[in-house]
Amino acid sequence: MNAPDTTADLLAYADRYYVPVYRPRRIVLERGAGSRVWDKDGRDYLDFGAGIAVNALGHANPELIGALAAQAARLWHTSNVFVSEPPLRLAEDLVQSSGFAERVFLCNSGTEANEAAIKMVRRWAAAQGRSPDRRVILTFQGSFHGRTLAAVTATAQPKYQEGYEPLPGGFRYCAFNDLAAVEAAMDSGDVAAVMVEPVQGEGGVVPAEPGFLKALRGLCDRHDALLVFDEIQCGMGRTGKLWAWQWDGVAPDILTVAKALGGGFPIGALLAGPRVAHTLQFGSHGTTFGGNPLAAAVARVALARLRSPELLANVEQQSQALRKGLEEIDRDLGLFHEIRGRGLMLGAALAEPLRGKAGDMLDRAAEHGLLILQAGPDVLRFVPALNITTAELADGLARLRLGLAGFASRVGNG
Ligand SMILES: Cc1ncc(COP(=O)(O)O)c(C=O)c1O
Repeated sequence: MNAPDTTADLLAYADRYYVPVYRPRRIVLERGAGSRVWDKDGRDYLDFGAGIAVNALGHANPELIGALAAQAARLWHTSNVFVSEPPLRLAEDLVQSSGFAERVFLCNSGTEANEAAIKMVRRWAAAQGRSPDRRVILTFQGSFHGRTLAAVTATAQPKYQEGYEPLPGGFRYCAFNDLAAVEAAMDSGDVAAVMVEPVQGEGGVVPAEPGFLKALRGLCDRHDALLVFDEIQCGMGRTGKLWAWQWDGVAPDILTVAKALGGGFPIGALLAGPRVAHTLQFGSHGTTFGGNPLAAAVARVALARLRSPELLANVEQQSQALRKGLEEIDRDLGLFHEIRGRGLMLGAALAEPLRGKAGDMLDRAAEHGLLILQAGPDVLRFVPALNITTAELADGLARLRLGLAGFASRVGNG
């Protein structure tokens, strides 16, 4: 690289050197503080996407920096051939805060946590003497579980699977929130596990309907199947409770977490309840980097902060402010068909005439200094840091209003 300098240079190099699986916005981000980031040209943005629901404590959080720096000066990496203290303490913290788990498997990302969950289900079923054709994992249309081959097969969205066939077998899909469909799909007695996001993220920010998770728990118990909650996006305080399933009061057998667990430092975890805590034995699974001391040291601090009553109260307060702000924008501009979600995981589904325009809206919002995400072409997704302040939120909403004004379907109010 010939020391590219300008934003245009860097974007051209990104186009030149990366495998083109991403289409990033035409911005080069350079630094951040709290819910604000600055690009290479010094422009500031409010960040309502938080690195896809990852930077839950904002950018450049002093406590996380302190934990990382202190650990960096001591020990970076050991592999799991040796024991070190940060991952051990993190595992203990996760078990104690989980309300159901006995053991933890640490890895590096969400998809790896789900891959481990899928393997755990299969081994559990095998240990029960079930033949391979009776180890089906049931997942839901609109779900997103990651990009490894098994996780993408669990992800019941054709657009993520196309061209990767042959896909691993043993998955079955049902409509989300359709209990009758799940009952029918489990009737054959070959389902070993149901895997579900308590709030679907990528699939459009769609919460499980009240009672759905509880009914899944009942069905899994009746059919001797495991219940797996993927809380990679909706967990870690994002919905206003540490775990999204706590709203429904039903614990899973396996919980997967990642994203906000490291506050921006890559880490994932699988939490295993009593039925499966001993399923994966020596040699049956592993990872070189999982439980890396740097990641674990940061995650311990992130977990402590994200489970604190003050932080969770802030999620509730800012959630209400964000929802109200979106409703006001909608009242004036007429953009949304529905505002849904929970806590600081909100989605604004676009009104019929604006369907497909989410990407354009993200561009316009960025031009006005606000970074947001989409969840498919028809839904704007808001997943800001959970410690976002009242002033940051208000500033972001003001920028959103400016960014979306050009899409107004109501004239004269915007
Ligand atoms: C619910 C859910 N599961 C799994 C994943 C995959 O996580 P990762 O991208 O860290 O592999 C994501 C990522 O968006 C997710 O939202």
